[in-house]
Amino acid sequence: MRDRYSIIGPLYDVLAKLYSAGRIDRCKLAMHDVIRPDDTVLFAGVGQGIDAVAAAERGARVTVIDLSRSMLDIFSKRISGRHFLHPIEVIHTDILKYDEFGKFDMVFANFFLNVFTRPMVMAVIEHLVKLAKPGGYMVVGDFALPSGSAAARAVQSLYWYIADIFFVLTARNAFHPVYDYQTMLKGLGLKIERVRYFRLLFDDRYCSILARKD
Ligand SMILES: C[S@@+](CC[C@H](N)C(=O)[O-])C[C@H]1O[C@@H](n2cnc3c(N)ncnc32)[C@H](O)[C@@H]1O
Repeated sequence: MRDRYSIIGPLYDVLAKLYSAGRIDRCKLAMHDVIRPDDTVLFAGVGQGIDAVAAAERGARVTVIDLSRSMLDIFSKRISGRHFLHPIEVIHTDILKYDEFGKFDMVFANFFLNVFTRPMVMAVIEHLVKLAKPGGYMVVGDFALPSGSAAARAVQSLYWYIADIFFVLTARNAFHPVYDYQTMLKGLGLKIERVRYFRLLFDDRYCSILARKD
């Protein structure tokens, strides 16, 4: 299968930093205080993986999965020569083919779910929830659902569509409005425990959602 991130992958983190003035990085790390040493933690669609490295630095048993070989090569370079309490497990596969159900204390989907079409995103979230232990957590970091006045919502939507169209063209991501991840997670029976928003200029552009499985 063609690696859709082979061209844009090496630039991904730099572009995200510039586009969000550093908010995307902060959003990806927003729930790391919940991670305890020895926790089993999965990063789905890890990309360059600053969040996965930060979890390993906290002593977690980290597994990362990505469909893109080039993204995983960048990630592997980032961790080469590093020593963590537990070595990071790196898996090159489609997340839907990974079926270690009930294994993880925490499952992270940072800026991952927005690559999918609406029918696919529900299937992927359902799959990720199955990978978490009962009582385990799901963390979703992504663009915040537009809110506030009509003008504010228009600006937030435009901000999302600029990024979305760029990735539709460069990585064949899906074209869609911002997804309502909180409603999706609640619909699967998860309890939203905490939400952190990240503002840019006048409104919230990103959010990190911590949800718990029964
Ligand atoms: C938008 S990037 C985000 C990367 C990273 N999570 C971050 O926040 O920087 C989406 C990542 O998901 C990966 N991906 C897309 N579809 C996937 C799938 N079905 N299974 C595993 N990884 C996938 C892509 O290769 C890419 O690295």
